[in-house]
Amino acid sequence: MAGLDELLLPMTAYDRLRFGGPTSRERWVDRMRAEYLTPVPPDLPLRTERLVLRPWQPGDEAAFAEAWADEDYASLLLTRTMNAAEVADMVRRRMDPGDGRFVGLVVEHDGEPVGDTILILQGTGLSEGEIGWTMIPRHAGRGFATEAANAVLQMGFEHYGLRRIVANLDARNDRSAALCERLGMRREVHRLGDFWSKGRWTDSYEYALLRDEWLATRGR
Ligand SMILES: CC(C)(COP(=O)(O)OP(=O)(O)OC[C@H]1O[C@@H](n2cnc3c(N)ncnc32)[C@H](O)[C@@H]1OP(=O)(O)O)[C@@H](O)C(=O)NCCC(=O)NCCS
Repeated sequence: MAGLDELLLPMTAYDRLRFGGPTSRERWVDRMRAEYLTPVPPDLPLRTERLVLRPWQPGDEAAFAEAWADEDYASLLLTRTMNAAEVADMVRRRMDPGDGRFVGLVVEHDGEPVGDTILILQGTGLSEGEIGWTMIPRHAGRGFATEAANAVLQMGFEHYGLRRIVANLDARNDRSAALCERLGMRREVHRLGDFWSKGRWTDSYEYALLRDEWLATRGR
């Protein structure tokens, strides 16, 4: 009982001085929790039949700047347009692996960036993921987004062991919704007027896929 009390004691800087460190709570609760919640990065790059999905690298802004500056392209994104300096800043941020919960990858075809994907680990015990995607317009319509997203789903379910992966999108984003459907994701939520985008409130959809469903479609 005394041991349990010690673990549950809120440890402050003053407690650390009193008991010396690391305290029982730090050793048996905080450290283990941090270890459990620090994801192990996958082996990169991911490879598919036509694509390579790799971490962001210096110079990537050149391939993405034009698309991100385009009002049409960004109109249905959940973020706004970005100028060249902002895109360069985004590339710098995405190159930083941080705490491993944000996995941003550039999608390449024949050595050229054609788009990007993200997977954000979240939820209880980091057991849920949110997936996202963009295709540089001249590379759209060739199934690259579908192929890349399938690789990210596989990484999420098989490498990170996620239980559920969701996608959130502007309800007017037909191409993104069609992509979710092609991936076998289910539209679970239609939120009305919940999202403030470029000067107006819009509806949004949440699509989801469970690991068991994904494995079942692959006969596993
Ligand atoms: C959302 C987005 C990534 C979808 O891209 P996309 O090009 O429609 O998707 P894909 O690359 O999978 O291509 C699918 C199309 O290629 C065709 N295709 C050709 N070869 C294919 C193949 N081998 N496999 C699958 N589809 C193929 C499909 O039939 C489909 O055609 P359709 O649009 O006429 O039905 C893209 O519209 C985009 O980047 N939008 C702007 C950014 C954005 O809104 N991102 C999402 C925020 S939530």
